[in-house]
Amino acid sequence: LAGSKSSLKMIPTYASKPTGNEKGRFIALDLGGTNCRILEVELKGKGRYSILGVTRCSLGREDITGTGNALFDFIAGCVRGFLDIEGLSSGEKRDLGFTFSFPVEQTGIAAGKLLKWTKGFSASGVEGRDVVKLLDDALRRQGLGNIKVAALMNDTVGTLVSKSYEDPSCDAGVIIGTGTNACYEEDIANITKWRGPAAPGGRMIINIEWGNFDKLLQNAYDKKLDSASGNPGHHILEKMVSGLYLGELARLVLGGRAFKAEDMSRIESDNSPSLARVGRVAKGLGLEASALKERRFIKDVCVLISLRAARISAAAVAAVITKIDPHLLRNHTVAFDGSVYEKHPRFAGEMKDALREIFGKDASRIKLVLAKDGSGKGAAILAAVARGSRR
Ligand code: GLC
Repeated sequence: LAGSKSSLKMIPTYASKPTGNEKGRFIALDLGGTNCRILEVELKGKGRYSILGVTRCSLGREDITGTGNALFDFIAGCVRGFLDIEGLSSGEKRDLGFTFSFPVEQTGIAAGKLLKWTKGFSASGVEGRDVVKLLDDALRRQGLGNIKVAALMNDTVGTLVSKSYEDPSCDAGVIIGTGTNACYEEDIANITKWRGPAAPGGRMIINIEWGNFDKLLQNAYDKKLDSASGNPGHHILEKMVSGLYLGELARLVLGGRAFKAEDMSRIESDNSPSLARVGRVAKGLGLEASALKERRFIKDVCVLISLRAARISAAAVAAVITKIDPHLLRNHTVAFDGSVYEKHPRFAGEMKDALREIFGKDASRIKLVLAKDGSGKGAAILAAVARGSRR
């Protein structure tokens, strides 16, 4: 927060928690992994909302590793397709909230430069550029001059904003999906590196970018995975925790083909004495698993990889809560989104166990909740906040 060198970027986001009374209809665009989601959200105030329409486009490898212009044209094309179906592509002006889940140095609520691609993205000509400008230009190329990008945010910020719209005691947003990261609200007086305008209420959300935390000991498999990744030496914590990497870690230990997150979940939830399902999944992945001993070993490896991921995540959550409230005097809600947190059979439970080890009975003050699709809804809410402050 003081601006000294750190693996944690602690990015001021120009955003603060909503009041719950934001209203209106907004478009939300959520780009974070290999899926891009577009929503039309109606905010009704008093923490109420409804999703009027939603669509999902999948991005192929060529989209995320080609040129930046092609990537943004593809996304803008998806927006165009959605608006055509919803009958919104002509005329009527709409504000759009853009959730862009990569490390961005914000220079305003609707402006920010991509610092570095993560999660396997490498589209050229985007690092160092304002991603709102790139999106805006692409929307214009689609003839969507009526759509204005009103707010840009990280997915963790969307998640925190969306949960706190209904629950003001929510003070952190965490993603454990393709990648992992968290944000929380900080007193602006503590952000001594901040040179921007005063924030409403004197508080501002900080995007930690905890995926880049580099004080963890890497084993031989972690090192191998890192050096073969698109961003070697970076995002060391993320490579131990998030969905893009867990299956690859299992492959490096066990051989065979790369596991998908679902494969890990299926293996880990087989509690039958013969581990027949482990055998079937393993066979599909090209692993020898005819002996019970082998199936047990495969399951143990998957369980250990996910357990380590859950315990590292819990330690990171504990650190954030300790920063907010060192003596744990208050109740805290932490909003989560992401496929690993949501779908892995034991991840959330193991995080809770680890928090109990760290905080003892005080851990009951910390509530972990799933804020499903929070980042899209959060985008609409921040677009509403931004519109309010333009008036
Ligand atoms: C990566 C990105 C970060 C994002 C996280 C979860 O760590 O750098 O910005 O929040 O993935 O999607």
